[in-house]
Amino acid sequence: MIYDILRIGTPSLREVSKPVPLDEIHDPAFQALIDDMIETMRQYNGAGLSAPQIGHNLRLMIFEITKNPRYPEAEPIPLTILINPTFEAISEELQQGYEGCLSVDDLRGVVPRYMHIRYKGFDRTGTPIEREVSEFHAKVFQHEFDHLEGTLFIDRVEDTKTLGFRSELIKAISQNHL
Ligand code: NI
Repeated sequence: MIYDILRIGTPSLREVSKPVPLDEIHDPAFQALIDDMIETMRQYNGAGLSAPQIGHNLRLMIFEITKNPRYPEAEPIPLTILINPTFEAISEELQQGYEGCLSVDDLRGVVPRYMHIRYKGFDRTGTPIEREVSEFHAKVFQHEFDHLEGTLFIDRVEDTKTLGFRSELIKAISQNHL
């Protein structure tokens, strides 16, 4: 089932989501929610999706980069389902980059993220996952993790003059104004 994506202004997007009880991972309803999230993310060409964005305030997020028209330059990331994720920065190094969000439509803005992180969580079978990742993969993780805390990327935009609609930013880039 393809869900509607909740958009900024919806109060539940700003809540801190609850951990998933690990003994509920195998429940058919929970597995169906994961399948619906995958279907919904792909339908909207999202790089990732968090459960709060479809109205479930649970610590569950997914991401995947194959050939994505929204992110044509991005390195591939295999489909990853993370339950109760945590992370730590491996270094203090930050990367600045444009982000967007299905909950904020086509608005983009420059956000600082840790360049190198180690994240942990559980996959849909309850098996622990631990990965060290960098750059785009690290950025996508941190963006989705923020959703579980009720944070949206625009909260982290330091220079609000970088904000713009995708189509206008592309125009500005093609005219060498950015
Ligand atoms: Ni988002």
